Amino acid sequence: MPRVTFLPDGKSAEVPAGTSILDAAEAADVDLPHNCGGVAACTTCHVWIEQGLASLSELGDREDDKLNEAAGLAPSSRLGCQACVGGEDVVVRIPGNRIAS
Ligand code: FES
Repeated sequence: MPRVTFLPDGKSAEVPAGTSILDAAEAADVDLPHNCGGVAACTTCHVWIEQGLASLSELGDREDDKLNEAAGLAPSSRLGCQACVGGEDVVVRIPGNRIAS
């Protein structure tokens, strides 16, 4: 199973392919905010993908629209509730000081 690692604290979890980054964060005991409950209606789950971006599920229109509102938008940005892991390990950075695990 692919391993998802969360920076800056380095916590990680192995999860089945198809698991969202948000669910992987919960599996790794990382508190990734998700104010809208995971329906691409906020940007609190915004993360930067430092490794494995190409292996994630495709960026959907709804996610793309919402991401444009995210502070610190980068080419590697995804919404954690929408991006699902594929077959490869992924390294995720939680922007700024939002980590509270
Ligand atoms: S939890 Fe709101 S967009 Fe992901």
